[in-house]
Amino acid sequence: MNTEQRLIRHGREALIILLSCLIFGATASAASGKPDPYRRPAVAAPADNAVTPARVELGKMLFFDPRLSGSQWMSCATCHNPALGWSDGLPTGIGEGMHKLARATPTILNVAYNKILMWDGRAASLEDQATGPIKAKAEMNQDMKILVQRLSAISGYAEMFEHAYPGEGITEKTIAKALASFERTVVATESPFDQWRQGKETAVEESVKRGFKLFTGKAKCDACHDGFNFTDSGFHNIGLETPKDMPDDVGRYAHRKVKINMGAFKTPTLRDVALTGPYMHNGIFNTLEEVVDCYDRGGDVQGNLDPNIKPLNLTSQEKQDLVSFLKSLTGKPMLVTLPQLPQ
Ligand code: HEC
Ligand code: HEC
Repeated sequence: MNTEQRLIRHGREALIILLSCLIFGATASAASGKPDPYRRPAVAAPADNAVTPARVELGKMLFFDPRLSGSQWMSCATCHNPALGWSDGLPTGIGEGMHKLARATPTILNVAYNKILMWDGRAASLEDQATGPIKAKAEMNQDMKILVQRLSAISGYAEMFEHAYPGEGITEKTIAKALASFERTVVATESPFDQWRQGKETAVEESVKRGFKLFTGKAKCDACHDGFNFTDSGFHNIGLETPKDMPDDVGRYAHRKVKINMGAFKTPTLRDVALTGPYMHNGIFNTLEEVVDCYDRGGDVQGNLDPNIKPLNLTSQEKQDLVSFLKSLTGKPMLVTLPQLPQ
C-alpha cells in the first residue's frame, strides 16, 4: 500500500471515530429530553489545529515512532501502550536509561476531553504537552533541533508534514500539533454503562446499578468524578500514603502555592479504568478493590485531606457493587492498526 492509500484508509478510520462521537452524543441527549450529564461531548480542537485525517495519520506515525527519542528506542507508545489501556501497567513510568519516574503514567484515553493536563495540571493543552516528554532528560531525552533534522531527512515524513500542515514545515510546533491531533482520536468506546444509560436494562448486572447509586449517593464519588469523563478537572488531596521508596510529592502546590493544593492531584478519568492499573499518581494500588477500601477508610493520611473524603462505612456487598460499577465503565478496546513507519 502506498502512502496516499494509507492516508485515505487512516483518514476514513479517524472520520468514523469522530462521526460516531457526534452521533452517539446526539442520540443520548434526545432519549431523555434533557441533556444527560454522562453524554459524550463532541471533541473540540484549537482553531489552528482542526482535526483532519492527514494530521491524525501523521500524529499516529510520530506517536509510535521510537526515532522521536534520543536513543531511538522509546516512543510515546512505550509508556502509553494501547495494549495496556494506553498506559504502561507499572506503578510509575520508566524513561530512558531505565530511569524510574516519580509518577504513574496516566492513560491518554479521552485526553481529548481534559480541560487541564498532567497529575499537577502543568499543561494547558495537548499541543502544550506533546513535546514535553520528548525533551525531558528522564523520559525521551531528545534535542528538538536534532529531531527536526532527523525527521526532515526521512522523505516519507517530509511529504506527510506538507500534506497535513501545508507550508508550515517540520518544526517543534507542527510535531506537537500532529501528536495532539492523533490523541484527539483516542477516545473510549461505548461501555456497558453507556448502553444501560441509553435504556438497555440488560447491558449491566444488578450489582452495577446498585454501584452507580452508591457512586452518586452514599459514597459521593461524583463530588469529584462527574460527567461523561468522570472528572471535575480539579485537584484534590485524597489522603494517599507515599510508597517507602518514593519522595513526598506536593502535586498541584508546585504550580499554585495555596494550602489546599498541597498533596492534591488531578481527578483522573474513570473511563476504561479496569485496564489502567496500577492506580493513583504514585501507583500505590494494584486493584480497584484496594482503591475502594481506601475511600471506605476515609483515606490513609489525614493532613490537608479534601473535605469530601470521609469514612464511608460501606458493607462488603456495597464495596463489591462499587467495583462492579467501575468495571462497567470499560468498553471494548479501540481498534488500533500499527502504522508502517516511513524509512
Ligand atoms: C517514559 C514514559 C513516558 C513517555 C515516553 C511518554 N509519556 Fe506521556 N506521561 C508519562 C507520565 C509519567 C505522565 C504524567 C507525568 C506528570 O503528571 O507529572 C505522562 C502524561 C502525559 C499526558 C497527560 C495526560 C493527562 O491526563 O493529564 C499526555 C497527554 C501524554 N503524557 C502524552 C505523551 C506523548 C504525546 C508522548 C510522546 C511524545 C508521551 N506522553 C511520552 C509517561 C510517558
Ligand atoms: C475529593 C474528590 C474525590 C472523591 C470524593 C473521590 N475521588 Fe477518586 N480520585 C480523586 C483524585 C484526585 C484521584 C487521584 C489521586 C492521586 O493520584 O493522588 C482519584 C483517583 C481515583 C481512582 C484511580 C484512577 C487512576 O487511574 O489512577 C479511582 C478508581 C477512583 N478515584 C475512584 C473513586 C471512587 C470509587 C470514589 C468514591 C468511593 C472516589 N473515587 C471518590 C478524587 C476523588
